[in-house]
Amino acid sequence: MQRTLLLALALSGLSYNAIAQKARPANTHSVDERVNQLLAQMTLEEKVGQLNQYTSDRLATGPLTENSSKYEDIKTGKVGSMLNVRGAKDTRMVQELAMRSRLKIPLLFGLDVIHGYRVTFPIPLAEASSWDMKAIETSARVAAAESAAAGIHWTFAPMVDIARDPRWGRVMEGAGEDTYLGSMIAKARVKGFQGKQLGDLDAVMACVKHFAAYGAAIGGRDYNSVEMGDRTLWETYLPPFKAALDAGAATFMNSFNDLNGIPATGNSYLQRDILKGKWGFTGFVVSDWSSIKEMIPHGFAKDPAQAAEIAIKAGSDMDMEGRAYITSLVKLVNDKKVDVAIIDDAVRRILRKKFELGLFDDPYRFSNEAREKKELNSYANRAKARDVAKRSIVLLKNDGQLLPLSKNTKTIAVIGPLGRSNIDMMGFWSVKWDNDKLVSVYEGLENKLGKNTKLLYAKGCGITDTSKAGFAEAVATAKQADVVIMAVGEAYDMSGEAKSKANIHIPGVQEELVKAVQATGKPVVVLTMSGRPMIFNWIADNAKAILHTWWLGSEAGNAIADVLFGDYDPAGKLTMSFPRSEGQIPVYYNHKSTGRPSPTDLAGSYRSGYLDMPNSPRYAFGYGLSYTTFELSDLKLDKKAFVDTDSITVTCNLKNTGKYAGEEVVQLYLQDVVASVTRPVQELKGFEKVSLKPGESKTIKFVINKEMLSFYDQQMKWTAEPGEFKLMIGNSSDHITLRTNFELTDRSANQ
Ligand code: NOJ
Repeated sequence: MQRTLLLALALSGLSYNAIAQKARPANTHSVDERVNQLLAQMTLEEKVGQLNQYTSDRLATGPLTENSSKYEDIKTGKVGSMLNVRGAKDTRMVQELAMRSRLKIPLLFGLDVIHGYRVTFPIPLAEASSWDMKAIETSARVAAAESAAAGIHWTFAPMVDIARDPRWGRVMEGAGEDTYLGSMIAKARVKGFQGKQLGDLDAVMACVKHFAAYGAAIGGRDYNSVEMGDRTLWETYLPPFKAALDAGAATFMNSFNDLNGIPATGNSYLQRDILKGKWGFTGFVVSDWSSIKEMIPHGFAKDPAQAAEIAIKAGSDMDMEGRAYITSLVKLVNDKKVDVAIIDDAVRRILRKKFELGLFDDPYRFSNEAREKKELNSYANRAKARDVAKRSIVLLKNDGQLLPLSKNTKTIAVIGPLGRSNIDMMGFWSVKWDNDKLVSVYEGLENKLGKNTKLLYAKGCGITDTSKAGFAEAVATAKQADVVIMAVGEAYDMSGEAKSKANIHIPGVQEELVKAVQATGKPVVVLTMSGRPMIFNWIADNAKAILHTWWLGSEAGNAIADVLFGDYDPAGKLTMSFPRSEGQIPVYYNHKSTGRPSPTDLAGSYRSGYLDMPNSPRYAFGYGLSYTTFELSDLKLDKKAFVDTDSITVTCNLKNTGKYAGEEVVQLYLQDVVASVTRPVQELKGFEKVSLKPGESKTIKFVINKEMLSFYDQQMKWTAEPGEFKLMIGNSSDHITLRTNFELTDRSANQ
C-alpha cells in the first residue's frame, strides 16, 4: 500500500486495518480528535488492555510459542505494550498478533536502552564525567537510531535520579550528585533519544525515571524507603525531571520506593498534583516492573485489586508486568470504584503516543530488517562510541607526568583481572551481545602499538579473590616490563539494579596486588574500573598515575589506549564524590555549613567532623586532571550589585599553560551567604568546557540572574532574597581559584 495513502488513512483516526478497509480520504483532525474517535469504538476491556504491558517470555525463558497466554492476550486486545521484545523480525512477528485483534491497535515496544543498543556506550555516570552535552546527546542519538531500526519505539531512559550514596548500585545509570548538571544531562539525553520529533525513524520515546526520589533510598539499599523534606525534594531531586519534561520527554516511569510513607506508584501528590497537574505533562506514566502489585508487600494495599485502584487513581497509566490492571480494572469500573473517565484519560495518553509515532500509519514502520542490518554496529557508530568513551575517562593522579606513555616503550605489562576482560567493559544495563565486539584494555593496546612494543599479561588474581597465588607471576611479569598498566576494580555486574553494596572498597586482594607490583619499582599506571565511586586509599596515596575508566562500552580498550598514549588529553571530571570510607556516606559537595563548620576539615574543638578522618571526600565533585595545565585569571564583574530584573556579567580568562592541547571545564559556584533558610556552602550554577592549544587563552563569560540565586523559602515560595552572595570559579568544587562577592539589592529599597 502506498505510504501516502496509509498516512492519509491514519489521519482519519481509526485503527490501521479499519481505516485501510474504509479507505477514507485524509482529514484534518488533530491527534486528539483521532484518539477520541478510536476511544469511542473501544470496549472497557479493550481500554484496559491498552494499560497493560507484558515482558517478552523470550528473554526470560527461551522462545515464545504461539500458545503463550501473552500471545492470546495480544490477539484479543488485552495488551497495549510489550517490553523486551527486540529486533526487527521479532517485533514484526509480535506486532502481527496485535493486528489480529478487533481494533488492530498497534503495540508499543519498550526496552531498557540505557547506554547504547548494539554499540555499547559508556555507562551514564561515566558519560556524565565528560561534562560534554554534545557527546551525551550523540550517545543517546546513536542508541535511538540503532534501537529504532530494530523495532523499538521506546527506551526506559534517561534515569535522572540524583544520587548521593555510592552504595546504591544504580548510581551507574544516572548523572551523579548535582542537580544543575543532572538537569542539563537529562535534557541532552531526551533530545538525543527523541531526535527532531517522535515519528522519525531514528527516534524513540524517552522515559524519564524513576519518579520520584528513588536515588535517596535509605542506606543505599535498592528499593528502600525514602524520607525527604519537601525542600530537598523540590530543590534537589525534582529539577532534573522537570528539565527532561521541558525537553519534551514523552513518558515517565514511577518508582519502587515509598516517599515519606506513600509508595511512588500510588502517590497522587507526585503523579497527579505535580507531574500532570502543576507541570502539565500530557504523556503517560508507566509503572516500574510490578510496582503496582508491590504496594501489597509495602503494606499499602491488601490485594491486586486495591493496588490497581490506588495506582490508577494516583496517575499510573500503564502497568508494567504487574497484571493488576488487566485482572482488576474492568471490575473496579463496573463496581463504580473507579470512574471510567480516569481509564479514558490514561488510554488517551497512550494512544496519542502511538499516533505520534506513526504506528497507525504503519505498525511495522520500525521493524525493518534491511535498515536494522545497515544501522547496527556500523563503523560510524563505533567511532562515536570511542569518542564519547575517551571523554568519559577521569585522570585522578599523574605524579611526575608519568602519563602520557611513549608509543616507543619496548615492553608493557598489563596486569590485573580486568586487563583482558571484554565482558566487563560493557557495564550493567547493556543490551547483551557477543563478547568479541567489546574491546579489552589489552586489545586496545595491541591496536594502538606497533610491532616494536612487546605486550605481556598476567592476571594476578580474580576480582573477588582472597588468594594471592597469582602474585608471584604478576611480579615476575612486571619485572620484565618498562611500564606496567594495572586494570583493577569491580566486575560489570557489581553495580546496577539490585546491586547495592555495603563495602565499596576495591574488591578482594586487588589493592594488595597493586602494592606487590609497585614494589618492583617499575612505573605503574593504575586503571580503576567500576560503575560507582569506589574506595582505594592505598592506590590513591601511593600510585603515581591513576585513570578512572568506569565501564566505557564497546570501544573501551581503544579509548583507554587513546588516553594512555596521549592521542587524547583526558578531561573528565567526577560528577559524584569518591569517599575515603563508607562511614562518610552520604558525602557530597553541596552540603550545608552547620553551626560548627570545621575549618580544618576535622572534628577538633567541638567542630562538625569525624575524629578519625577528614570530612572531605577522597576525590571531590568536579575533580579531574589533565596532561596539560590551565590557569584561571582576571576575574571581572560588570557590577558588584544588581536588582532582580537585571543581571551581572562575569568574565575570566582561561589559559592553557602546559605542553598539550587539552580541554578544561570551568565551573561556577555560588553561595547565598545569609538567607531565611540555610543554604549549601556552594552550588554549581554554570560551567563551560573549553578546548585550548598550548599557550592559547579564552575569555569565559557567565551571566548571573535572579533564577540562579533562587530557592524555596520558609513558605516554599521560589524566591531570591536580597543580600550578599559568594562567587567561586575553579576547575573542581574543591579547587576554587577565583573568588569574589556580589550583592542582590532590594528593589523596593531603591524606589
Ligand atoms: C526495573 C527497573 O527499575 C527499571 O528502571 C527498568 O526500566 C524496568 N525494570 C524494566 O526493565
